[in-house]
Amino acid sequence: MEKSLERVGIMVGSKGRGSNMTALVKACRSGQVPAEVSVVIASGAGSDAEKAAIDLGVPTTVVTPGDRYGERLVEALEGCDWLCLAGFLRILPGEVLQKFPDRVLNIHPSLLPKFGGKGMYGHHVHEAVLAAGETESGCTVHFVNERYDEGAVLLQKRCPVEPDDSAETLAAKVLKLEHQAFAEALSKVIHERSC
Ligand code: GRF
Repeated sequence: MEKSLERVGIMVGSKGRGSNMTALVKACRSGQVPAEVSVVIASGAGSDAEKAAIDLGVPTTVVTPGDRYGERLVEALEGCDWLCLAGFLRILPGEVLQKFPDRVLNIHPSLLPKFGGKGMYGHHVHEAVLAAGETESGCTVHFVNERYDEGAVLLQKRCPVEPDDSAETLAAKVLKLEHQAFAEALSKVIHERSC
């Protein structure tokens, strides 16, 4: 009998574009990742990421932080085997981490442990990389725990930092890597866990 696909929930941030979410949905639909995206959860209505998910025809729901946030997230993720954070910038409520032990992945636009932690997101990361004079940057897919950007690293992709790079050009190079890395990492853990 053919094995059924793993079910993935994706959480996007209220300021996100949704490009990593879109890349993951496409990678699942093309068969690169043996999974289907069963729900996209947005933190606020009307974000670009939420619109992108609706345009892709993925079931989409909004769960705003507040009372019973963890419980409401767990309800929205009912039936999911994995959770991918794609632009979600908060610490996940304990209820969600308990529901998905070692099954929550995040993507970060630097080579962790460098340039991670609270407040390190988006242009802040790339500006810090340039200010530190790094000659290399990239992205990291890691497991999520109760601390910012500290879970075990699953996969990294690297690119050179050129002398004439700005935060914008570096961000664009890293984003391209992110789109490949998230799908590769998810595929890898799914294969490892099903062996
Ligand atoms: C990405 O740079 C990702 O690394 C970070 O948030 C950003 C989200 O971008 N966690 P997008 O919404 O996926 O385009």
